[in-house]
Amino acid sequence: MLIRIRRDGFDEPSGSDITPRAAYLQRRAWLKALAGGAAGTALAGWAARDALAQSRPGKLAPLAAGKSTVAGAMTMEKTTDYADVTSYNNFYEFGTGKGDPARRAHAMKTQPWSVDVEGLVHKPGRIGLEDLLKLGAMEERIYRLRCVEGWSMVIPWIGYSLSALIQRVQPQGSARYVEFVTRMDEQAMPGLRTPGFDWPYTEALRLDEAMHPLTLLAFGMYGEVLPHQNGAPLRLVVPWKYGFKSIKSIVKLRFVEQQPRTLWQKIGADEYGFYSNVNPDVDHPRWSQATERRIGEDGLFSRKRKTLMFNGYEAQVGQLYAGMDLRKNY
Ligand code: MTE
Repeated sequence: MLIRIRRDGFDEPSGSDITPRAAYLQRRAWLKALAGGAAGTALAGWAARDALAQSRPGKLAPLAAGKSTVAGAMTMEKTTDYADVTSYNNFYEFGTGKGDPARRAHAMKTQPWSVDVEGLVHKPGRIGLEDLLKLGAMEERIYRLRCVEGWSMVIPWIGYSLSALIQRVQPQGSARYVEFVTRMDEQAMPGLRTPGFDWPYTEALRLDEAMHPLTLLAFGMYGEVLPHQNGAPLRLVVPWKYGFKSIKSIVKLRFVEQQPRTLWQKIGADEYGFYSNVNPDVDHPRWSQATERRIGEDGLFSRKRKTLMFNGYEAQVGQLYAGMDLRKNY
């Protein structure tokens, strides 16, 4: 992103943010034992979540999910430690430091929460979080997340394909794009006063990208509801695109005919394109995208990984861009 970020290492998570590995594994075993898949668990868990300490990993409400059968949804790579995923974040509404979201995002109110659906759909309106939670069957999907800054993580998300929501609101024939908007909470989000940003955070996808089964509407990760810093209560995860397309804490979907301009395009269209598909051959104007650093593999002798075309999801999504010049449509 335009903001200068330490690229040699990353902020040390504060002690209170870290769940020791053993405790984390124990908690996973406990969650597994709980997993009977009772449909009500998600909702009951949700109601309880605000009573729990939201910013402390390992203390959130469980969210039951089955394993995904969507092609490409379950990478076999080792998942990144929960402590890293929840302490090294980009959520600029809470500040530009990697540790700012974990420190501050607990102040964002996530109840009540609803999503407005506007524009070129037959069924516009407001959908409450409880109804959203029931719209699709919760699945666990293990996705690589590749940030445009050059780091990556592997995260077990929980959610369902965004297509379930889109089908429910019935786009009109003229709808070609979906725009997403993040919550603005002046009280909780000091980053809204950061100069140079045109808030709210918005992102957009072409309708066929939004309908692709891999495009996930995520409500949880690591067996639990999403921590605030990771985009509670619901966010997008588009695994073949740079992480900034995966917009957090969504409050609005707008179906439109013309390609919307996203927040990052407004900041620097030459650096952050509309498509932003992960591509090792198309460098960012200020740095190479050929390699990446996997969070958790830092250290003197850690190797850099080769960036994969479409972040490794080419077999699933390559055809969406058949015939397109990916250098021009970066
Ligand atoms: N969504 C909002 N609303 N605000 C943000 O600043 N940052 C994006 C994306 N979604 C961002 C956002 C970027 S740059 C990345 S890399 C991912 O969230 C990071 O997600 P994570 O913190 O869960 O790893």
